[in-house]
Amino acid sequence: MRGASQGWRAGLIGLAFCFVPPALATEVRIATFEAVGDAIPAPLDGLAGDSTRGQKLVRDRETGNCLICHQAPVANEPFQGDLAPSLAGVGGRLSVGQLRLRLVDQSKLNPATLMPAYHRVDGLTRVAARYRNRPVFSAQEIEDVVAWLATLKE
Ligand code: HEC
Repeated sequence: MRGASQGWRAGLIGLAFCFVPPALATEVRIATFEAVGDAIPAPLDGLAGDSTRGQKLVRDRETGNCLICHQAPVANEPFQGDLAPSLAGVGGRLSVGQLRLRLVDQSKLNPATLMPAYHRVDGLTRVAARYRNRPVFSAQEIEDVVAWLATLKE
């Protein structure tokens, strides 16, 4: 009996070592970028965005969680927020570069903003443990979301 329970315990300890927190497992780099006025004209790391993936990221309730604050023209999404302007038509109101800057770090435009900086790690407070030292969105994810927002022309 004793042997069996020891084996079980060793198994549990082994299992515990398999779980490396994501922050340690994946190092996500912050892209270098240049802001011009209220925009970041060039794609982060020169990457091309995919609007289908971008829409998924916007709807995702775990990571992006945009719909906790914003409304967006997506079907079958009840419980959209009203703390922020609707994203409907945002691709007509703002250029791709303006959208990119707002996602990377809206606090550059409004230091008191409610909107999280999605691609920044320095100087943030109130960051959930799993996002310490890693941005919420990678450069590729920023480009994907920008690509989808740019399709929202009306
Ligand atoms: C906690 C609330 C919150 C979350 C979450 C949030 N935003 Fe925002 N967002 C705002 C607010 C508030 C503004 C208005 C500007 C301001 O107050 O700084 C804004 C502004 C914007 C703008 C500019 C809109 C315009 O018409 O000028 C865009 C684009 C945008 N958000 C996209 C997003 C996307 C995409 C996500 C998810 C990846 C997101 N936001 C998540 C609160 C939020």
